Amino acid sequence: MKMLAACLLSIFILTMGCQQSDCKAPIEPVVVKGTQNNSKALTVFYTRTGNTRLVAESIRNEFDCDLQEIKDLKDRSGIKGFIVGMIDVKTKKKTKIMPKAVDLKDYDLIIICSPTWGMRLTPAITEFMNASDFKDKKVFVVAVAAAEMKAKTFKRIGDEIRSKGGTDAGNLLIKTMFKKPEEIKTETIKLIKGTAIYQSK
Ligand SMILES: Cc1cc2nc3c(=O)[nH]c(=O)nc-3n(C[C@H](O)[C@H](O)[C@H](O)COP(=O)(O)O)c2cc1C
Repeated sequence: MKMLAACLLSIFILTMGCQQSDCKAPIEPVVVKGTQNNSKALTVFYTRTGNTRLVAESIRNEFDCDLQEIKDLKDRSGIKGFIVGMIDVKTKKKTKIMPKAVDLKDYDLIIICSPTWGMRLTPAITEFMNASDFKDKKVFVVAVAAAEMKAKTFKRIGDEIRSKGGTDAGNLLIKTMFKKPEEIKTETIKLIKGTAIYQSK
């Protein structure tokens, strides 16, 4: 009887351990190819709660381009994730991302989609940008915000892109507050179609 109880307890502990570590370990996101498979554009995104995924997938569908998700290896969930996220952007704390770097050599245009945290881009996307070589690339930035993103942040990001040898190809702000998923997608498609990168594609 004691043996059986010990076995059951061991299985329970092992299962719990798995749930808390291995089973929760994020799977490395791979690039999703456009249907033409000869795309010269790549949409890169990070999302905490799914809005930026809707935006990135809508853009990807309009351009029929490749899509790469960036994962933040820090747990950003819940209220704690919100507070720590806010502290991390304000203190410019680095984070670990997956994949660590994205091979951009096959692309002319990089469309970067990030949630807005504390009027800045997220630590994960900042990390991606720091790890990237934008030489001879056009880089377009999409900030996804509940309500607002400062114009001076877009200007600073443009300076960063230029300092890394890239061309600042413009930016967009997608506001998500009180919007249903379908409204976020419709708004994204409407706004992206008005941009120079779309018109010259
Ligand atoms: C830490 C944190 C800070 C945020 N700061 C801002 C902000 O400065 N301005 C804003 O409009 N929304 C802000 N938001 C809201 C998100 O930008 C918004 O909900 C966005 O749609 C979330 O995108 P996601 O679902 O892809 O994570 C913040 C959210 C978090 C978690």
